[in-house]
Amino acid sequence: MKTRTLAIIKPDAVASGHTGKIISRITNEGFSILGSKQIKMNLSQAEGFYDIHRGKPFFEELTQFMSSGSCIVLALEKENAVKEWRNVIGATNPDEADEGTIRKLYAKDLGQNAVHGSDSAENGQKEIAYFFAEFELILN
Ligand code: CMP
Repeated sequence: MKTRTLAIIKPDAVASGHTGKIISRITNEGFSILGSKQIKMNLSQAEGFYDIHRGKPFFEELTQFMSSGSCIVLALEKENAVKEWRNVIGATNPDEADEGTIRKLYAKDLGQNAVHGSDSAENGQKEIAYFFAEFELILN
């Protein structure tokens, strides 16, 4: 069954000029891009997106970083999109990511780890809805 996941190209990867390579990888891996846009979150928008991590020791660092520069948000669709995208991006900590994964290739460290992926199909739908109105999601 086709499912959806949110992908974010994070401020470190955008600032380092990796956006084009990551979007090529997304299409080469067979994902349909239903929507994409460049955004710059303010702190409260980043805190809202990562609300599930509120109270954790890295919350302030994470939300400061995610609101520090431009991100590209993408709504992706594929068979088993959540698992497939997580396979492509690799482990959260790039030191533990497999060779060839996006985080292994482009992430700086655990905090500045180049990309985000949803952790379940249910959260994928919620995270996509955080950034996209329904009319912005187009299956070509
Ligand atoms: P992401 O997939 O965007 O989901 C939550 C993010 O929190 C994660 O990627 C990491 O960038 C970040 N994160 C998780 N654990 C830590 C940590 N121990 N220190 C700093 N950032 C973390």
